[in-house]
Amino acid sequence: MTTNPPTLLIDRFGRIVNYLRVSITDRCDFRCIYCMSETMEFLPRSQILSLEEIETVCRAFVELGVDKIRITGGEPMVRKGAMDLLRKIGRLEGLRELVLTTNGSQLETIAQDLKSAGVKRINISLDTLEEALFKQMTRVGDLNTVLRGIDAAIATGFERIKLNAVILKNRNHQEVCKLVHFAIAKGIDISFIEEMPLGVIQSHDRGEEYYSSDRIRADLENQFSLLPDTTNTGGPSRYFRVSGSNTKVGFISPHSHNFCGDCNRVRLTAEGRLLLCLGNEHSVDLMQVLRANNGDFAALKKAIVESMQIKPEKHEFDLTEQPIIFRHMSATGG
Ligand code: GTP
Ligand code: 5AD
Ligand code: SF4
Repeated sequence: MTTNPPTLLIDRFGRIVNYLRVSITDRCDFRCIYCMSETMEFLPRSQILSLEEIETVCRAFVELGVDKIRITGGEPMVRKGAMDLLRKIGRLEGLRELVLTTNGSQLETIAQDLKSAGVKRINISLDTLEEALFKQMTRVGDLNTVLRGIDAAIATGFERIKLNAVILKNRNHQEVCKLVHFAIAKGIDISFIEEMPLGVIQSHDRGEEYYSSDRIRADLENQFSLLPDTTNTGGPSRYFRVSGSNTKVGFISPHSHNFCGDCNRVRLTAEGRLLLCLGNEHSVDLMQVLRANNGDFAALKKAIVESMQIKPEKHEFDLTEQPIIFRHMSATGG
């Protein structure tokens, strides 16, 4: 049996960082309206970390006490070599959980390989069960491909599968009960997410389409009985169990219920920036640290430990103003 080293990553507010989210590409085969603008410029290859560099950073974090790594994008599985990278990260000694956030577009063919690579749980984006609305919200995605992907993931037998639905007023808010019925029928979980103002978008006014977690919960309580659940996945969801089922419903409510006091995570972007908070720009350029020191592992670990000193206390999201964070969610991975 292996024991984890005591964590060395503690910030100025006494929060322990044991969860790393890694965006391995900013590219995606979808163009969700809340995530991207219609025209996006993606990073050129020369500006993103190599797969080897990403693995090195993950190894450093695990040696510093991180025991959960979530791979995100863009859509992580559009990056060539992603499966190989997952396999390598999955073998890191001391890592308790390798998990993945995906749009599900390729799951139908890769679910089994993901499991073999060591992925324990997956989160799949699904905002609606209406084909036309799905196309409208993702701009290019095909609902049926994603539904087949969800079925393939269920058949593969991951420890847990969770759907993520970003809810926008007068667009998909009337879908919430249907989505929960779907999750129950499939025996999986679902989280409802309040839209966050990351990056400038043209498709809609984020303030006008804000639909709070409390409203979603009230809508659901017309049809379901929600029992508070103590599950803590190390993420920001507040969970409820749907009475009479195995399904948990989570609410990720950055506007209505700030969860920053319990924050245990940091993010690595594809270009090698270590972001200390999703809603702030405080970051350390780990690509520069890696390349300036010829891959010196001790220098990398030192930079990571020191970065804890600039982790901000909380995010400051305001849907009524133009975003102060200019990077889109696709550049951060959520
Ligand atoms: P678990 O780690 O399994 O709990 O998953 P998760 O729900 O945290 O991860 P996922 O990648 O599925 O993200 C779902 C939503 O939560 C996305 O919209 C993320 O942007 C959001 N989220 C995750 N962590 C944070 C955070 O620290 N702050 C904010 N504001 N949102 C977050
Ligand atoms: N606000 C909230 N959630 C978002 N996501 C993408 N963009 C946003 C946004 N602006 C969600 C996706 C995915 C998760 C990683 O982040 O739906 O499920
Ligand atoms: Fe792609 Fe996910 Fe952004 Fe949609 S939310 S465009 S699936 S990265």
